[in-house]
This record gives sequence, structure tokens and C-alpha cells, in this order.
Amino acid sequence: MLRFPESKPEPKIVVLGSSGLIGSAVTAALARRPVRLRAVARRRTAIPAVRAGEVEVRSADLTDPERLREVVADADVLFHLVKDSAGWRTAEEDPGCERVTVGVLRNLVEVLRSRRSAGPPPLVLHSGAASQAGVLDEPADGSQPDRPGSVYDRHKLAAERLLMAATAEGVLRGISLRLPTVYGPDPAPDVPDLGVISTMIRRALNGAELPLWHSGIVRRDLLHVADVAAAFMSALDHADALVGGHWVIGSGQGWDLADAFERVAATVAEHTGSDPVPVRRVLPPAHTPITDFASLTVDPAAFRTITGWEPRLPFAEGLRHTVAVMHRRAVAGTKKVPVAEGKQMYGTEASEIYDVVYTLRGKDYAAESKQIAELVRARNPRASSLLDVACGTGGHLVYFDELFGEAEGLELSGEMLEIGRERLPGIPMHQGDMREFDLGRRFDVVVCMFASISHVGSEEEMARTVRRFAAHLNPGGVVAIDPWWFPDNFIDGYVSSDVLTPDERTIARISHAWREGDQSKMDVHYVVASAEGGARHFQERYQYQLFSREQYENALRAAGFTVEYIEGVQYGPGLFVGVLQGEGE
Ligand SMILES: C[S@@+](CC[C@H](N)C(=O)[O-])C[C@H]1O[C@@H](n2cnc3c(N)ncnc32)[C@H](O)[C@@H]1O
Repeated sequence: MLRFPESKPEPKIVVLGSSGLIGSAVTAALARRPVRLRAVARRRTAIPAVRAGEVEVRSADLTDPERLREVVADADVLFHLVKDSAGWRTAEEDPGCERVTVGVLRNLVEVLRSRRSAGPPPLVLHSGAASQAGVLDEPADGSQPDRPGSVYDRHKLAAERLLMAATAEGVLRGISLRLPTVYGPDPAPDVPDLGVISTMIRRALNGAELPLWHSGIVRRDLLHVADVAAAFMSALDHADALVGGHWVIGSGQGWDLADAFERVAATVAEHTGSDPVPVRRVLPPAHTPITDFASLTVDPAAFRTITGWEPRLPFAEGLRHTVAVMHRRAVAGTKKVPVAEGKQMYGTEASEIYDVVYTLRGKDYAAESKQIAELVRARNPRASSLLDVACGTGGHLVYFDELFGEAEGLELSGEMLEIGRERLPGIPMHQGDMREFDLGRRFDVVVCMFASISHVGSEEEMARTVRRFAAHLNPGGVVAIDPWWFPDNFIDGYVSSDVLTPDERTIARISHAWREGDQSKMDVHYVVASAEGGARHFQERYQYQLFSREQYENALRAAGFTVEYIEGVQYGPGLFVGVLQGEGE
């Protein structure tokens, strides 16, 4: 682990270039850590929905040395992920991109040299390109001499050399991660990623054919951006062993681009319901660099040996996530949303804003997850796998995965699930109904958070649900259920209101809850407004069963659990914790 002086327990981390594909994924991964984070880019960076520490977002032209000096002044760690907005494609014609790729790093070294006496040299993590090594017959493993074959690769190499020279001089502690072909959903609806895979997905979503420039077989190592962000987190955690070096990362697999494009066409077709668009071989544009015709695969063994990092998303799965997100955004961008009466719970519009609404209303997913882990460990110290039932968009799952080493989710709403899967690729999230699911395996812990269990329709259904929890637990397994209010502490007629500004949007949420027999209902009205999109209104009606404390306890005992009720924890109504005696059914 990276260590910092006692007086500064939370390091100041600055991400330069936080709005691009890699920058936004790294920013989101860092925001889940208890750090003080500053995200800086020329464009506006979306504030990550899940954040465990302080997050500050700044817009700045980083080619301006004064602005650069300002934003890095107090940094303990820097991520240098700036990329010319034209990307690698126009580097051949555009010498101006040197100013971004090399110039910003050159200025950064100068700035850090001038603050040298201020403390230990900051750590600088840099994104290089695996293609810097040039055309190779074998996989790039970081040991081959560099023979950059394009202007872009020469710039990347020049920047990396500046970084290493400054490391030798003691100005900073540099690490370069050389990346292969990275893909993932466009970082924001209005910020297209210029990479080859998302360009092809966008074309296929528009029904256009996919142009393949290569006549022969060109193999590429295709790495999902979530795996890239995880590699940067591993580099941060193992910095001492990596400083002063360049490390090649990749999936270790080569994909023939023709096959990859066919796979793009087929995956898009699965989402749109249309026939797959054709992949057509075409003549490449003039001045295409030779490296565009060269195969490049990667052997990341050296990095893996030090950090333990492994890519989690095979291409077919990463592609499915990417297409799902881009398809949903494309549909949302064109759809007229009618004002609806009593709509389905957790539908598209509510799911879209779920994370920002609850995070800004003060729900602390990090703290809640930690508390659950402590309660579980007190009863089962070796618990190492967890299932989050009704996991929603995975707000807790991201923390449970870290706290327990293995976490999976189950969720009924396809819309909530899609957002969760987008955010947490690599964490299995299954679609299913908690009253009747069967995942064919057992866990050490099953949790059901944020009153989700009260969405079932009767006491009998609740008892059935708790039996499903038992059936998914190992002997001695722990269940934690975060209930809805009991009949005697539910406030009939309760109204709550919030106006939230997570980003360029303003969101008003007004709810009214009332009692109907042994049920409570809640109507929630949302108005979402932005300068460009105007204001729109939608509403959802939620139904929660009002179970008494005894009803929960009886259901747990009948399913084979010991029962404890812990008052005043989590968001309000307390928590039931049970330990399974013997085997679940
Ligand atoms: C209040 S949200 C909680 C989500 C998440 N656990 C959290 O804490 O943010 C309730 C969730 O329960 C899910 N849900 C409702 N009925 C369900 C069922 N029968 N099976 C599985 N999930 C269900 C909803 O779709 C929704 O995502």
C-alpha cells in the first residue's frame, strides 16, 4: 500500500485529463477511495455518483503553465491522462498535439521541480502506449527496445522519457502504464471516445456498415476501460515496486479486428433487434501510419507479478456492457418522456438519477457497507463471499466487493441492473426475483439493504424470500436485512422534499407516503431540468409492506436463523442480523 505521512492520512490526488475515456474511469475508481480528489480537464468532468471522500472538479486548459501550477500545487499523487482531443488518429497531420502529449508533461516537470523543497516528490502515474515499442513479431512485454512507428507513438515515448528523467533527478516518482487498444462506453453522452471500438459501435447503432481497413489479419489486444482503471489503482497500491519503470498492460489475448467488428455488429443487433450491419473491407485513407496495419498483442506478466492485477472482462463481456450503455444513451436521447401516473417502480428515468439522488440526500454507502462487514465479521470472521439481494444499481456492491473479496448482486429491475452493470463491470449482477431465485451456489453472507425486502406483497412472500436467503448461505452464514418502517413507527402522510444539483442538472424530488391497511405507498415526483434539456417531470409509485418486528423475526427463525435486531443503525429502521444454524433448505 502507498503510505503517506501520519499528519496527512488522506492523500491529495489530482487527475489531469479527467473527462476522457480513461480519465473518467480512473476518476470514478479513485472517488470510491477515502482520498481528497481533484479532477481537472478542459471539458467538464461528470462528478462520480459513488464517492467516499472529497471530490472537486475543475475545468482548466492544462497547456497553460499557470493553470497547471495552480491545480497541481498541493498534489501528493498525480495521474497524467491528458490526451489531445483529436486523439491518435490526427496526430500525423497535427503537430499541435505535441503541445498536449509532451508539452503538458514537460511543464508539469518544471512545476514540480520548482516546488521540490516542499516535501517528498509526488507520485506521477502516466498513460503510455504499448505501441511505442513499434511493430513486433511477438507480444509486447515491456522488454523490447522502443521503435515507435507513428508520430503519436513518438510523442508518447518522448513524454515517458521526460517522466523517467525527472524520476532519476528526484523531481517526481514516475510510473508509466503502457496501454493497448482501450475501449468502453463514451465517457459522457456529449463526449465521444475516439477509439476504434466505440466508433464502430456508434456506427452500428446508426445502422451504418463497419469499414475494415485491413486486408490481412490484424490482431489487437482489446482492454476494457474498467480493467485499465483497476490497473491504475493497482499501480497506486504497489507504487514503490513500480516507480522508475514502464509496464505494459493488456488482456494478454489477441483479437482479429475483422472478428471484433463482426462481434460489434452482432452485439449491437442483439440490442436493437435489427439485422447486424455488414462489415466491409475498404481502402484506408492516405497517410495512414504503418502501425495501423500491424498486429499488437501484449504480455502483462511483469505488471501482474508485482501487483496481482488481472483483467476481469473478456472482450465479449466488456463489449456487451459497452453496447448496452451506448444503446441506452442513444434511446434516451431520442425518446420523448411522457408524464406518467403510477408507473412501475425503478423504471428507466428513476434508475438514471437513483445514485445521484440518494448520494446527495446523504445516503452513505461506504459507511453502511463497512458497518455490515463489521457486524458480519463479529459472527463469522472468515466470511469471504457476499450476495446483495435487490442490489439496485450496486451502491453497496462496490464496497462489499472490496470488503469481502467476492460479491455478487441480484436485482429485479432491468433498468437498475443495467446501470449497476455499467458501473461495476466484473461484479456479477443477476436479474431475478428475490422471492424465487436460485443462483445454484452459496455465499457466506446474504444482505438485503434499504428496505428492499418490504417490496414483496405479503408476510407469506417475505417468509419465502427469507428461505431463499437461507438456501444461498453456507453453514454458519450470516444474513443482514435492512427493513422498512414498522407499522408503529411509520408516519402516515409523510412528505419530504429535496432540490439537488449533482452536475449541470437540477433535480427536485418530492414524496408523499401514506398507509393503506398493512401496506404503505409512496408517490415520488421528480422534476429534472438542465439548460440544454429544459425541464421534465415524471413520477413513480412505490409500495412497501408494513411488517412488524415480530413478523421479520418469525420469518428468520422459521428459516433456521438466530435473530438479533439492532436499533438505530443504517438509514433509520435498524437492522436484523441472523446466523444460519445448520444447512439452509
Ligand atoms: C430502495 S431500492 C434499494 C437498492 C439498493 N439495495 C440500494 O441500497 O441502493 C429497492 C430495490 O429492490 C428491488 N426489488 C424490488 N422487488 C424486488 C424483487 N422481488 N426481487 C429483487 N429485487 C427487487 C428494486 O428494483 C430496487 O432496485
